[in-house]
Amino acid sequence: MNRGRTAVIVGAQWGDEGKGKIVDVLTQTFSVVARYAGGHNAGHTVIINGKKFILQLVPGGILRPGCISVIGNGVVLDPLAFLKEVASLRDAGVQIDGNLFISNRAQVILPYHRMMELGAENAPGRVKIGTTSRGIGPAYEDKMGRRGLRVADLLDTALLRTHIENACREKNMIGHALFNSDPLDADKMFKEYSDAAQKIAPFVCDTALLLNQAIAEGKSVVFEGAQGTMLDIDHGTYPFVTSSSATSGGAVTGTGVPPTSIDTVIGITKAYCTRVGGGPFPSELLDEQGEDLRKRGNEFGAVTGRPRRTGWLDLPLLRYAGMINGISWLVVTKLDVLDHLTEIPVCVGYKIDGKATAEVPAQACGYEKIECLYRKMPGWATPTQDVRTLEGLPKPAREYLTFIEKETGARVGMISTGPDREQTILVPEFVSQLGLKEIKSPAARA
Ligand code: IMP
Repeated sequence: MNRGRTAVIVGAQWGDEGKGKIVDVLTQTFSVVARYAGGHNAGHTVIINGKKFILQLVPGGILRPGCISVIGNGVVLDPLAFLKEVASLRDAGVQIDGNLFISNRAQVILPYHRMMELGAENAPGRVKIGTTSRGIGPAYEDKMGRRGLRVADLLDTALLRTHIENACREKNMIGHALFNSDPLDADKMFKEYSDAAQKIAPFVCDTALLLNQAIAEGKSVVFEGAQGTMLDIDHGTYPFVTSSSATSGGAVTGTGVPPTSIDTVIGITKAYCTRVGGGPFPSELLDEQGEDLRKRGNEFGAVTGRPRRTGWLDLPLLRYAGMINGISWLVVTKLDVLDHLTEIPVCVGYKIDGKATAEVPAQACGYEKIECLYRKMPGWATPTQDVRTLEGLPKPAREYLTFIEKETGARVGMISTGPDREQTILVPEFVSQLGLKEIKSPAARA
């Protein structure tokens, strides 16, 4: 039997590129969706039967009956946030049982992670990252410090009690000394988390085994990235990054599926750029044009509601994302947000200290020296929300997409022109190369 196809979906910018929508399209024919990094700092908005969901931890496959969703070992899991999300999905009639699995090796976020993060973010003299305050960074710190609690340990009551008692003692002392934080009650925490453990137990298994077996049996798997390339702990705008491997390499370490089993990497980019939180953003617009993009694109964080910073498309960063992730296909989202413009500036290159450079700086202070070189592309000044084919797009919009292809070396396989499932253009070669032969245009689905 041939092994199943696989594709990694990765954010090519700073997250919020609309990865949820492409996962939704792929699950028409892909059988499994595996999330590989991050935690409930991520968020994508999905609307089913007029009801809006913000999925934070649960992979997008859950909304497709019969599709298996996996939370991989690379994810940091807040058990309470997970149970809350599952309860709201159940309330909406989503079939959860038998369709959702959590890795026994995923790390657990506990209340002291949030305590330490809040303390550090507000402490004078510390670099303020502008995190989502979910305890993500401190949970990954404990993982790398080899003092984390994994899901398998959460289910082991005796171990859980000892872990919480020891960790609380230590974190309370550190929190008090460094940030004057109020101490956390270990008994209360043990009660709450041992209750949660019982509810989580039915979802827990060895998901590396599950995924490798599924692929060996010919099932197709989508690896769902969270955040984006420029928020990756190694390759992003460090230290203004998240604490996990958001790039395609994370799909391997974050699920236990070997690199030799990855077929395709699909990068998702908006037709412009956004970022939430602090840190470098070379093509940022701080004027009314930026405000206009924010309003037209409804650029407010799905998790924290914070306004997103906005700017023009940055091709040097997109080329960098292509190189780091091995992107062969790009999905361009929110093209319609540019519909009103007669002229669209695009950053085509960087100058640092007056010299053109193809390199992306390693230091945050290096980004401050960047002078963006812009090329003005003709706008189309025509609505695109109802267009369903590439040929149906206005010529300048097609030229905008072709320009992106030429500059990045990746093909554009899908274009999103609105928030609804049906506001999607699928390029036939993308459909056939991904083996999505039976894929129907989302509009044609029930
Ligand atoms: P953390 O992931 O909460 O530690 O936050 C680190 C940085 O990543 C902050 O700038 C956050 O705003 C950003 N971030 C984390 N998750 C997301 C996301 O899903 N979309 C966009 N930005 C994110």
